[in-house]
Amino acid sequence: MRQYHLNTGRNVPVIGFGTWQIGSDDAAKAAVLTALEAGYRVIDTARIYGNERGVGAAIRESGLKREDIFVTTKLWNDDQGHDRTLQACQRSLERLGLSYLDLYLIHWPATSRRHDSWQAFEELYQEGTIKAAGVSNYTVEHLEDLDGRGELLPAVNQVEFHPFIYEQQRAVLEYCRQHDILVEAYSPLSRISSSPRPAITNIAKRLGKTPQQVVLRWCIQHGTLPLPRSTKPDHIASNFDINSFELTDDDMRALNGLSDGQRVTWDPAGMG
Ligand SMILES: NC(=O)c1ccc[n+]([C@@H]2O[C@H](COP(=O)([O-])OP(=O)(O)OC[C@H]3O[C@@H](n4cnc5c(N)ncnc54)[C@H](OP(=O)(O)O)[C@@H]3O)[C@@H](O)[C@H]2O)c1
Repeated sequence: MRQYHLNTGRNVPVIGFGTWQIGSDDAAKAAVLTALEAGYRVIDTARIYGNERGVGAAIRESGLKREDIFVTTKLWNDDQGHDRTLQACQRSLERLGLSYLDLYLIHWPATSRRHDSWQAFEELYQEGTIKAAGVSNYTVEHLEDLDGRGELLPAVNQVEFHPFIYEQQRAVLEYCRQHDILVEAYSPLSRISSSPRPAITNIAKRLGKTPQQVVLRWCIQHGTLPLPRSTKPDHIASNFDINSFELTDDDMRALNGLSDGQRVTWDPAGMG
């Protein structure tokens, strides 16, 4: 499996598994166990998904070594602020049943208290409770605002990324590339799974791949780490199998051209 190099020095596989809206702790546990068995090693959760206990149970039951799994969770908006952040991280660790996080993200740039949260992230990073710190849903303006506040650099910015908002996300992708921040692509499949487009299905047919594999491959060829979510074992397995083919420049342009600006989640511009 190819890897990305984080600015902390750690390598991370190019694809991970998402757990938003996956259901109860039991459903999350089943899906994450299936994903770990299929080969995923990056698992993305969040306090607000309400499934950290299920994710932690799957990690323990998988029999894999803790250090071989890259676990991310996120600080929810009402936990922003210095002391609340330290408490929220501790509670997430307790629910997950882990002693450290591989990556902790500020979920949204929702309030100006995020700057105090970042200071707490710096302390958590220094003491080794979190091995990398990052942000999510940060625009270029939010990243510029963060720049120079303390010593800690974000290792990751997790943003919505799929062909339909390629144009809208170009600026943040370029900023992150220039500042050595890995972009994680969230909701990569939601829109294409609900309404497949001929531009994607034609490429998929030519390559003998699924439309989802094509879009996940497109994410990787843009240098981002996609986080597909599924509860179906066959989807979980096929989504992971994206390293044996390549999209051409024409394929990439055709997918880039699907941009219509419609998001799955919220536009963070002007937040906080
Ligand atoms: N930081 C943030 O603010 C934020 C926001 C949103 C999401 N995220 C993260 O990103 C992850 C992914 O985003 P998402 O949850 O919006 O989901 P997604 O991966 O974009 O799409 C999931 C949908 O696609 C379907 N699907 C997946 N693989 C398929 C396949 N091979 N064939 C047909 N359908 C397929 C799934 O249905 P089946 O279950 O039937 O396969 C499900 O309906 C989240 O789970 C979360 O970890 C982060």
